[in-house]
Amino acid sequence: MNFISKLKFLTFESYHQCFASTILILDFMSLEKAKRIHQLTQELNQHNYNYYVLSEPTISDFEFDNLLKELELLESEYPSYVDPNSPTKKVGGEITKEFKTVQHSYPMLSLGNTYNEKDLTDFDERIKKSIGDNFEYVCELKYDGLSIGIRYEKGILVQAITRGDGIQGDDVTANVKTIKTIPLVLKSKVKIPDSFEIRGEIVMPLKGFERLNQQRIDQDEAPFANPRNCASGTLKMQDSREVARRPLDCFLYYFLAPENQFPTHFESIEFAKELGFNVGKYYRKVGSLQEVFDYIKYWENERFKLPFDIDGIVIKVNSYAQQEELGYTAKVPRWAISYKYKAQSAATILNEISYQVGRTGNITPVANLRPVLLAGTTVKRATLHNANEIERLDIREGDTVFVEKGGEIIPKITGVDLTKRRADSEVTKFISTCPECSTPLVRREGEANHFCPNESHCPPQVIGKIIHFVSRKAMDIDGVGAETVEQLYRSGLIHNYADLYDLKFEEVLTLERMAEKSAQNVIDGIEKSKQQPFERVLFGLGIRLVGETVAKKLAQYFKSIDALRAATKDEMNFVPEIGDKIAESIIAFFADEENVSLLTRMKAHGLQFVSEYKDLVLDSDVLLGKSVLISGVFEGYDRDELKKRVEAHGGKNASGVTAKLDYLLAGENMGPAKLEKAEKLKIKIISLQEFLELVGDK
Ligand code: IVH
Repeated sequence: MNFISKLKFLTFESYHQCFASTILILDFMSLEKAKRIHQLTQELNQHNYNYYVLSEPTISDFEFDNLLKELELLESEYPSYVDPNSPTKKVGGEITKEFKTVQHSYPMLSLGNTYNEKDLTDFDERIKKSIGDNFEYVCELKYDGLSIGIRYEKGILVQAITRGDGIQGDDVTANVKTIKTIPLVLKSKVKIPDSFEIRGEIVMPLKGFERLNQQRIDQDEAPFANPRNCASGTLKMQDSREVARRPLDCFLYYFLAPENQFPTHFESIEFAKELGFNVGKYYRKVGSLQEVFDYIKYWENERFKLPFDIDGIVIKVNSYAQQEELGYTAKVPRWAISYKYKAQSAATILNEISYQVGRTGNITPVANLRPVLLAGTTVKRATLHNANEIERLDIREGDTVFVEKGGEIIPKITGVDLTKRRADSEVTKFISTCPECSTPLVRREGEANHFCPNESHCPPQVIGKIIHFVSRKAMDIDGVGAETVEQLYRSGLIHNYADLYDLKFEEVLTLERMAEKSAQNVIDGIEKSKQQPFERVLFGLGIRLVGETVAKKLAQYFKSIDALRAATKDEMNFVPEIGDKIAESIIAFFADEENVSLLTRMKAHGLQFVSEYKDLVLDSDVLLGKSVLISGVFEGYDRDELKKRVEAHGGKNASGVTAKLDYLLAGENMGPAKLEKAEKLKIKIISLQEFLELVGDK
C-alpha cells in the first residue's frame, strides 16, 4: 500500500503514528499537501459517483474541472502521494504495451442457452426436482458486451481482468479505471469484505457507438460491426487516455467474496449498488416461472428502447445455499440459464432501391420497403450496404424480402422469398454515376464501396464539409447548424466554407423561416469564429484523415498553415502519430488550387492560421530532429516527466528500438532484449545523468 492509501484509513491525529511506522519524514507543508490530495481524491470520487451512477450532480462541471485541475497539479508536484485510484486515473494516461495474462481467482463460467419456453420449463423442473418448490429467481438483462472481473482489496480497485478463456484473461486495469461508472474507491457504512471480486459486462452505449463509427467513416477507417466489437476494441487499446475519451459503461451482476455476507444474490446486488456500482435498474426478484415469462415478454419489445444492446435475459436462483446445492456441470452453473431472443423477422415488398451519397462520397444503396410492423416499430427502409450485398442476396425491385431486427438499430434484409419473385423481374444493376452530381462513380480495388470522387462540387459532400466546418469541435459557429448550412447552400448563398465569411445580414434574412434575430445570430457567430485557434481551423478544413487530435498535433508542431503547406512528407512523419497516409492526404489537399484559394480568402477575412501555443516555446533545440526511447526506471524521475523534457528540448519520443532511433535513455531494470538490439544497431545508449547534461538540466 502506498503512503496516501495508508492515510485514507487514518485520522488526522494518527498521521504521526504513520510517520513513526514509515521511514518517510515529511515537513509540515508536505503533510498539508498530502492531506489536500487525499481530501480532493475522496471528494472527486464522490462527485463522479453522483454524476455517472446517480445522475444527480451536486456541483457544476466547471467546479468539478477546477477541483480536478487542482488535484492534477498537486499530484504532479508530489507524485509519491498519488493514490493509485485517484480520480485523475479516470482521464487515463497509462500506456499498456502488452496486456499481462493473469489467472482468474474463480473460473469465469459461461451460461446455458435457451430459446423457447419449453427449454425454460425443463430448466425449472430440473431445479424443482433437486431443491423442491420453495425458491425464488432473479431475472436480469443479458448485456451484450464483454465480461470483466474486477478485484477490490480494502475497498480499492486493484485489478480488472477480461474473460479470456475463462481460466485466465488479460489484465486491463488501467483501461477499466477510466470507465466513469466504475468506482475506484468504495464507500460504505456497512463492512466491506477485505477482498472480493465483482463481475459484470462492459458495454458501448448505442449513441457512443454511432458517434465513434461516424468518426471512423469520416477518417476512412472501417467502422465497427456492432457495439460489442466496439467495446472490445476500445478495452484493448494501449493508450488509456484514448479509452477515457470513449463512453464505455459497465453493468455489474455477480458478487464473489470468500464468504458471502448476504444469503442471496439479490441482496448482494443491492449491496453492490450501495457500494457505488452500476447494477442497472432492470433486475427483478420473482417467485414463479410465469413471472419469468412475463419479464421475458416485457423486454422482447422494450429492449429496442434501451440505450445499449442486450441479447437476452439471464435467470438465476436467488439463494446462495440453493445455488450451492444445485452446483455446476463441467461448463455452466445449474442454478442459472440465459434466454436468448430470436431476431424478429417480417416479410414485405421491396418497392425500390435508392442510393444515398454520404458526406465522404460513399454510396449506400437503400431498400425502400412497403411499411411493415416489426418489434414495435414501423420499418420502411433498410440498408443494403454495398454492391456485394446486393449481389449476395440477388435482391431485385418488386421482390418479397425478409426483414430482421436483431440487436442492431437499423433493420437488415436477410433474404428474398424466391417463390414469390415475379417472372419479369430484372437483375439489379448498381448505378454507375452519382445520383447527386452525375460524376462517374469509382470503386477502388479490393473495396466493397463505390464512391463519388467529386469531393469539391458534389452537393452532399460540399454540404457535409461545411457542416463539419461549423460543427462544435471545429469552428463551433453559434447560430449555424446543419439545417442552416443546407438552406444556405441550396439557396445558392454559399458554395464552400470560405463563402460563409462573405455572407451579409440581408442575404441570410432571405432564407425561409429566418427571423431578424436569428439572422443576426448567424452573422455574429460567423464573425466570432474568426477568433477560433488555428488547430480548430485546421480540423475544420476537413482534410481527409486529419481528425481533431491530428490537427492539434500538426498545429503544435508546424505552428502555421504556411509551414504545414511547405512541409515535406518526411518532415510530417516526424510529428508523433503522423504516418505516410496522413502526410499524403495533407499534400494532396494543398496540391488542389481550389483549396489554396479558399485558404487565401479565409486568411484575408482574419481567421487564425498561426498557432498561439505558448507552450511551444522550447527550452532548447538540442534534441531537434532526434528521437529518444526512454526505457527502465529512474530514481527520482517519472517516465512521463522525462518524456516531457525530451519534447521540451525539441525531440520526439520513440516507442521502440529501430535503426532510426538516436538515443536510448537506459534506466534500471531495462529489458535485456532492448539493450541488445540497441547495441546491435549501434544506437547511442545514455544514462539519466548523461541525458540531463545533454539537455542542460543539470
Ligand atoms: S451471470 C456463473 N448475468 O453472458 C454465471 N452473465 O453467456 C456468470 N452476461 O459470460 C454469468 N449479462 O459475459 C450473468 N446479467 C448477467 C449477464 C451475463 C451478460 C454474459 C456474461 C457471461 C455470458 C454467458
